[in-house]
Amino acid sequence: MELNMVCAPLRGLCAHRGGCDSSTRGRPSAHRRTSRVLRRTRRMIDWRKKNPDCRRAMFKVHCASRRCERRVPYAADRPYEPRDTRVKPAPLTCPDTPPFTRQSTPGRARAPVSRICNNTSMSTRPLPDASAPTGDSAAADGVRIQRIREQFPAINSTQTALLDNAGGSQAPRAVADAIRDYMLNTYVQLGADYDVSVQSTQTVQRAHDFVRLLMNGDGIGEVALGASSSSLLRTLGDCYADALPAGSRIIVAEWGHESNIGPWVRHDGKAFEVVWWRVSRETGMPRLEELRELVKVGAAVVAFPHASNLFGDLFDVAAATKIAHGAGARVVVDGVAFAPHRAIDVRALDVDWYVYSTYKVYGPHMGAMFGKKEAFAEITGPNHFFIPREAASYKFELGGVSHEGCAGLLGLWRHLCFLAGEDAAGPWRRQTIELAFERMQEIEAPLQARLIEYLSSRNDVRIIGPASADPAERVSTISFVHKAKPSREIAQGANRAGHGIRFGHFYAWRLCEALGLQPEDGVVRVSLVHYNTMDEVERLIGFLDSAL
Ligand SMILES: Cc1ncc(COP(=O)(O)O)c(C=O)c1O
Repeated sequence: MELNMVCAPLRGLCAHRGGCDSSTRGRPSAHRRTSRVLRRTRRMIDWRKKNPDCRRAMFKVHCASRRCERRVPYAADRPYEPRDTRVKPAPLTCPDTPPFTRQSTPGRARAPVSRICNNTSMSTRPLPDASAPTGDSAAADGVRIQRIREQFPAINSTQTALLDNAGGSQAPRAVADAIRDYMLNTYVQLGADYDVSVQSTQTVQRAHDFVRLLMNGDGIGEVALGASSSSLLRTLGDCYADALPAGSRIIVAEWGHESNIGPWVRHDGKAFEVVWWRVSRETGMPRLEELRELVKVGAAVVAFPHASNLFGDLFDVAAATKIAHGAGARVVVDGVAFAPHRAIDVRALDVDWYVYSTYKVYGPHMGAMFGKKEAFAEITGPNHFFIPREAASYKFELGGVSHEGCAGLLGLWRHLCFLAGEDAAGPWRRQTIELAFERMQEIEAPLQARLIEYLSSRNDVRIIGPASADPAERVSTISFVHKAKPSREIAQGANRAGHGIRFGHFYAWRLCEALGLQPEDGVVRVSLVHYNTMDEVERLIGFLDSAL
């Protein structure tokens, strides 16, 4: 591949404006950008020469003038061909150009994600210089969000604006590719000594390791994976019912999703005595004071959510945990509504158990549960009697976990690196994860602010939960009810007009009842994540303006 073959079309990108050279004449910054793109192109070509196995057949070059963007074919003569790579799987795709440039900094050494992109030479290659465009910040944001949306093919294959992400997020290409690659190359039984089995076993083990890092639980606990958060919590409730003395007091938050209520309530009057931690009837919000009172009589477990899946509020988990621990209770936190928006930090929160759904965090349909070592040690998981108790995760994973799902979980690392502007071939780093979630928060903050501003401006609408748009207080899951119109009518009208939102109780049945709402009609919920756009929010507002 000759440099000219790439540079020529690159220059051609600006041909309609008289060519890059002439169009940037007299504009030194544009000239600098042009040379940067050419330098980057040269680097990419050199890298491609050294990495001929890389399957990526196209790469995108940004027009230096930022007026247009086109895909430049590279190695069009080499279409993607699945190879028989059972022993040594081929790399999936090259790391994509990150939307935010930031060079990797050395961090704690961990095993590289070599099974996802096992071309180890990539770790030494310089990142493509994909500086976020400078200048007009609205335009720069537009380009960034466009690059992010390109990672999620499903967003672009529907006319509907996907604003129901609290129900389940889209998966980026990196996750889908990882699942596909696993199934085509290393889909064998775990635990044997033959090479492919060794690889598969490592994939599953590494997925546990990765999720543990994602939750910041390294060194203090383990992660069990399962079909869903509901199934993991149900199992946990049953395990505690076996382990605790009959009649143990379990404090259960009324405002949570039923998945962290039902598993405790089903043993009420037998193994447990369930005590309700209710929301204030005046404000509709929970209070720490109430928990302080409840634990005075003693408690074995306190179960509550990190954020309500209706309110989108950020609850003070660390403070609640401190109160519960003061009374000698374990805490079981449902982090499902929190996890798509902020980096989970079980270490900082000091929680005993923390559960989230991986399919709402841009991954495959699974659930993940962190447990402190001592918490795992006090219960016996449901797996067979001969599985040692010390095999904490596996003791919980009756029949094992989805192997291809584990591969998909590992694929998420690539998307997080993409957001953080770091090289996915580098070692896993907690800082990268935190940075990626900070990027998500930056993108989501103005979207939630705009929607809340609009809803607050209407006197016929009631926002359910805090009306604050402050990202320190809430995530971008926003629910409301209308004075006269049923939630069903609003949501269904919106759906017909191409806005993918939902209505109902969202399994927070008891919260709806506590707020005096009919659970069947419940609330209208709009849940935004980092691939949503201001345009989608404005269009929804336009619809609400005409429909309400
Ligand atoms: C806050 C919350 N907790 C728990 C769950 C249950 O998760 P899963 O579907 O993984 O069982 C959900 C699902 O929507 C949820 O929103």
